[in-house]
Parts: sequence; structure tokens; C-alpha cells
Amino acid sequence: MEEKLNEIKALLKKYGQEHLLSHYEKLDDAKKKELLKEIENIDFELIKNLYSKTEQEEKTSEDVITPIEYLDKYKLYDDYKYYENIGKKAIKEGKLAVVTMAGGQGTRLGHTGPKGTFDIGLESHKSLFELLSDGIKEEEKKYQVTIPWFIMTSRENNKETLEFFEKHRYFGHQKDKNIFFFIQGELPMIDTEGKILIGEDGLIKSAADGHGGIYESLLKSGMVKIMKRLGIEWVFIGGVDNCLVKMVDPVLMGIAIDKGVTVACKSVVKANPHEKVGVFCKRNGKPNVIEYSEITDDMAEARDENGELLYGESHILCNLFNISAIERMGSEPLPYHIAYKKAKYMDKDGKIIVPDSPNAYKFEAFLFDAFGEVDEMAILRVKREEEFAPVKNSDDVGVDCPKTARRLYRKYHNLD
Ligand code: UD1
Repeated sequence: MEEKLNEIKALLKKYGQEHLLSHYEKLDDAKKKELLKEIENIDFELIKNLYSKTEQEEKTSEDVITPIEYLDKYKLYDDYKYYENIGKKAIKEGKLAVVTMAGGQGTRLGHTGPKGTFDIGLESHKSLFELLSDGIKEEEKKYQVTIPWFIMTSRENNKETLEFFEKHRYFGHQKDKNIFFFIQGELPMIDTEGKILIGEDGLIKSAADGHGGIYESLLKSGMVKIMKRLGIEWVFIGGVDNCLVKMVDPVLMGIAIDKGVTVACKSVVKANPHEKVGVFCKRNGKPNVIEYSEITDDMAEARDENGELLYGESHILCNLFNISAIERMGSEPLPYHIAYKKAKYMDKDGKIIVPDSPNAYKFEAFLFDAFGEVDEMAILRVKREEEFAPVKNSDDVGVDCPKTARRLYRKYHNLD
């Protein structure tokens, strides 16, 4: 251990992060070991590069953004049945798995705990996880097939998520048979001087590295291997916070298979030019999503000759991938986006600091940044009222909140 400690000290000195050991002596043996392991796993070169990015002036992007083509599910006419039959066949053959990204906490909702455990206030008091589970079970019955469910948690919420599922007997799914859990990656948070923060527990302060890490996590955790063993060829990846998410869609699948594309995504028409959703576009000729935080007002408001928004196909985190695309995307690193956040930490004197304004950088990769890996993908416009009821904010915000989601859910399921 002594030798290891010296190696680590040298490493920290090289990168100006010696403070990470300032509380080392006060930790018990298990924690000491854990801290050293955590430090060993840090990619200090990456952290150095990311910090230098935070110092650079945000330069205006020179990317060329152009609109992207899409198909409207309800204007496919005769092709609807054609695609649907292709998709149905593949689903019945057991080629589809679904993945739920549930690494987030319900902070914006005022919920303490994994977002998937949130009860949106239906009479049944079902959690988001149970609502998603109901959807899967219904499709399994319809197609007489098992649809394996993979759930991505984060280190922050993994234990609580597993306990929740255990308590609810996995909603009838069988652990490690048709329901699987894997943990997403994370990165240390750094302060404005580029120093890695120490958390309340004396260990490295890390945060989930965004859903862009999902491809790599699926590979590294062995989930792709399991999928292959189960004969899976297509993987739907969706968020946990849309209580109308339609994970099993034969038309979407049929289109992907028929057109020979390895990525197919669903969109809904943007409710208004400034709705907080990313929109599909082409970036330098390749498929991409431009986030709501990134789009200019001019672009958000631009309309075509029919009066439709030029960038009006909202990304609703309903994306279908061929397993080969996941393997390719997981082997290439994605760029990180920088967020400036409030983060509780332990200072050099061992005092816990709870900041009331942002003090630290968090780095996140976005899953759609991998879309540029393919030349073409299919986009299928679906009906908002059938497939998109996001639960993002608390009720006082008034949009994308439990109240609006509940209303949409009840209407769709004829509960009124
Ligand atoms: C997201 C999309 C946006 C889309 C909108 C639709 C991003 C960056 N933007 O915005 O394009 O129009 O949803 O509702 O995603 N998650 C993880 N791990 C992470 C981060 C997120 O599992 O590290 C999961 C969350 O649990 C959630 C989903 O990803 O299920 C979306 O994340 P969130 O941060 O809520 O994205 P939005 O800003 O709402």
C-alpha cells in the first residue's frame, strides 16, 4: 500500500491535484483503499483538457446546421402496413430489447430519490418505473414474446433503484433473465481552478457523465454480450421521464429494417418555437440534434413555405439502434458538454461547504452526439398526445410537470 501511495502522490503532483490526499490519514482503511482506487481510475489528461475547455471563450460554432428529412407516421398511407409487418415479424422473433436511462435524480421535480421511483399522482400511485413496466408487459402479451428490459442507473442511485425493484418484486420481471441493471459512467467535478472536488465522504466528488456514456457502458458492463446471447438485433433506448414512452413500435422498426439504417428516432412537432426540447437537424451534413440551450432564436423561429418550423422535429429521447451501431458508437469517445453547477464539497480543512451559487464544473456527453457516426438515419414523426408526456419540473412550473403528464396519461388511457 505504501508503494502505491507514493506512486499516487507522484501522479497527483504531476497534475497539481495533491489536495486529494489531504484527508487521507483521517479515513479508515477501507475508505483509504477506495480513495486510492478512485484516484487510479481518474483520466487526469482528460480532466486537464476539459478544464482548459472551461477557460476558453465559448467560440461561436462554425458547424453548418441544416434541416433534416422525416417521415410522418400518419402520412405513410399504404406503407404503414408494409413497415408494420416487417417490424412485427422482427419483434415476434425476439429481436428487440429496450433500455431505460434512469441515471438521473428527480431534483427538478423536488423528488429525493431515483427519478424512476417518482409517483406522478395517478389513482394507482404507480411510479414511473411501474408505468414503463406496464407498457412492456402489454407489448409482450401482444407479441407473445419476451422483451428484455435493461435499466441504466448511476452510482448515485443504483442501490436505491435496486432496492425499489426488489421491494416491488421487479414488477413481475425476472432479474438477470429478462430485466438487467447496469451503471453509467461518471467523471470527477472540478472547481474554477481546475481542482478536483472532494465529496462529503472524503472520496472523489463525481457526477454522472451524461447519457452519451450509455454506448460505452452497455459494452463495458457486458450488456451487449447478454443482448447478443439473447438474439437481440435492435435496441430501443428511452428516458425514464416520459410516462407515455412507446418503446415497442413495429412501424419504427420496420422502417429501420427496410431502409437499411442502423439508427431510427421518433420525433413530435415542437409545441412552440421555444419549447425546451432538442430538435433534429443535420450538422455538417450528418444527422444530429441541436439542443434547446444551443439553438438561436432565428433558427428556432424559422419556418418553411408551408408555415412549419424548419427545425420543428423534437427529439423525445425515443431512439432505436441496431446493436452494431451501439458497438461502433461505444468505441469512440464523445465530446463533453460543460455545465456550471452547485456542488457540496469538503474543503482543505475538512469543512463541508454547501454553496448557494454554482461553484463547480460537471461534464456530460449527450447520446445524440453519436448520431453523426451514421450517414443516414430515419426520423419518424409521431403524435405528441400518444407518445410524449414528460415529467421534468415540479407542478409550480406548469409545463412538463406531474400535472400535465397525468392529464396526458389519463387521456391516452381513457381514464377520465
Ligand atoms: C432531454 C434531451 C432533449 C429532449 C428532452 C425531451 C438531453 C441532453 N436533452 O432534455 O434533447 O428534447 O429530453 O424530454 O438529454 N439521464 C441519465 N444519465 C445522465 C443524464 C440523464 O440517465 O447522466 C437520463 C435521465 O434520467 C432522463 C433522460 O436521461 O431519463 C433525460 O435527461 P434530462 O437531463 O432530464 O434531459 P432534458 O434536459 O430534459
